[in-house]
Amino acid sequence: MSTSFSTLIRTASHEQHTQAETSSFMSHLLGGELGVEAYRRYTEQLWFVYEALESAVPRLAEDPVAGPFLRPELLRRAELERDLEHLHGPEWRTAVTALPATARYADRVAACAADWPGGYVAHHYTRYLGDLSGGQIIRDKAERTWGFTRKGDGVRFYVFEQIGNPAAFKREYRELLDALPADDLEKQRIVDECKRAFELNTAVFRELGEEFPLSA
Ligand code: HEM
Repeated sequence: MSTSFSTLIRTASHEQHTQAETSSFMSHLLGGELGVEAYRRYTEQLWFVYEALESAVPRLAEDPVAGPFLRPELLRRAELERDLEHLHGPEWRTAVTALPATARYADRVAACAADWPGGYVAHHYTRYLGDLSGGQIIRDKAERTWGFTRKGDGVRFYVFEQIGNPAAFKREYRELLDALPADDLEKQRIVDECKRAFELNTAVFRELGEEFPLSA
């Protein structure tokens, strides 16, 4: 009965993780079958999501539930902006647009940030722990496929300069999850929100897949 919350959230979202990981857009992207425009479009979508996640940071910094997770070394917005400048040029801001699924995802993150810190933690976990894990596989592929400088412009999003030991960092992050001040019911709601977060990601992949069908 005493499964830790970090184990619970990981196990409960396992199926959704497999779905996101094996979506056709991701498979084609990682298979080196898509052009750099597809990677750029995906990076744009990430920017809208991290904009929603990270614009909430000042407001949540002192929150007893979400506050402890807001480690400055995780922040990705500045890195995404450098990548987008590299991928789009200096006018990137006027060039980027959110897909409908991305807008829904960002809106959900913003809504949690506004009035449900536990829900925000679910989104925080889904993105940042994923970026620290599978994100490294995506970086490696992107460097090889489109010729970005190793850990340089174009893939900075995946490079956590200030996290020397990602495995240790993830361990500490899981300890924070295990220490979350929430009762069992709230924890269950957070797990459900995590599943929703994965589904929101999968929906973005679906729309990206429609925009970049392999047979085109
Ligand atoms: C092709 C894409 C992906 C690959 C190859 C991938 C791969 C991985 C790998 C290897 C891990 C490490 C598991 C461990 O440390 O034991 C991981 C963890 C994780 N991934 Fe992914 N992943 C992908 C997509 C995603 C997506 C789209 C999300 C959600 C937005 C995501 C969220 C997570 C999370 C939250 C974890 C941490 C699980 C935990 O230890 O609690 N991943 N992923």
